[in-house]
Amino acid sequence: MLNVAVVGLGWWGRIIVNLLARSEKLRVVHVVDVNPQGETFASERGLRFSSGYERVLKDDNVQGVVLCTPHSQHTDQIVAAAQTGKHVFCEKPLSMTRADVLRAVAAVDAAGVALAVGHEKRFEPPVMEIMRLLREGVLGTALQVEANFSQDKFLALAKDNWRLSGKDAPAGPMTATGIHLLDLAVGVFGEADTVHTSVKQLGSSLTNGDTLASLVTFKRGGHALISAILATPFAGRFAVYGSQGWAEVRDKTHPEAPEGWTLTTSLRGGRTTSVDMPPSPAVLHNLEAFADAALGRAPYPVPCGEMIANVSALEAIFRSARSGNIEKVEG
Ligand SMILES: NC(=O)c1ccc[n+]([C@@H]2O[C@H](COP(=O)([O-])OP(=O)(O)OC[C@H]3O[C@@H](n4cnc5c(N)ncnc54)[C@H](O)[C@@H]3O)[C@@H](O)[C@H]2O)c1
Repeated sequence: MLNVAVVGLGWWGRIIVNLLARSEKLRVVHVVDVNPQGETFASERGLRFSSGYERVLKDDNVQGVVLCTPHSQHTDQIVAAAQTGKHVFCEKPLSMTRADVLRAVAAVDAAGVALAVGHEKRFEPPVMEIMRLLREGVLGTALQVEANFSQDKFLALAKDNWRLSGKDAPAGPMTATGIHLLDLAVGVFGEADTVHTSVKQLGSSLTNGDTLASLVTFKRGGHALISAILATPFAGRFAVYGSQGWAEVRDKTHPEAPEGWTLTTSLRGGRTTSVDMPPSPAVLHNLEAFADAALGRAPYPVPCGEMIANVSALEAIFRSARSGNIEKVEG
């Protein structure tokens, strides 16, 4: 068992605390929120509550932290945890700039602690199946990714919510949902080379943008077409086209309450086939992979190099959304 503290008891932190109640690999021993309302949530579950992160860092019973805080706080919180010898699971995006993600990875490397990130799509069975088809060459050479992650949950947020701010969400939907697709595209193609992104406010009062389209090119070839919209009902789709065939996963629901997926594959000369896949708790499986890495049982399946590549491309997307130009990805 890995004893963890969950930091940030908002939408996602509460989902994670509740999920971990049924884990055989992680035990929540401490929870933190700067908002005192978190105390009621903690006491209902018999959990130790603190209103300051530093209390967790001084708690010897805590072996790892699960960061569910606003994006711009992640890097400093990762570094502080690593410096006190605690393993880190951080929600997405890991950092907002390449310089920051390098700082985060350097801190965990220096401390010899595990680092994991909240990209649960990597742990969804149909996505794992597509990655297997790619790895084993069944789809041939990967040519292009097309992906969409849209939802309308943010329409209900107050205008001054941090998730709608230029500081924490500089390219509208990108940090909310698009970042998961960028992570998968990096998983397929590796380091990105250039990005061309457009963000518009078209169908809502979300002033930092509700509609994003991004074309990402990769150093070893391949394109990703990423679509993320915050003013339309939920949609989730990830497709990879290869020289021998293609595969597409369509999500039935948002990852907060998975109801399963439809996986469609088509190989040259064969028929196009679709299978329905049952729900699977990918968020929990990601956290449990973190515990396995922290306890030295297995390496975390997403290497730090891919975390760096993802944030480097993210920063270029922020630049491109501002400039309207094709931007080079650093690194
Ligand atoms: N993996 C996923 O699919 C997924 C889904 C939703 C959100 N997220 C991520 O989870 C994180 C949190 O998002 P959310 O939607 O839950 O936001 P939220 O605003 O609902 O919750 C954030 C919480 O953090 C608290 N907080 C702020 N600063 C803090 C600090 N220094 N110490 C302790 N608590 C602090 C706030 O009071 C709030 O309760 C973000 O990184 C977001 O991108 C991931």
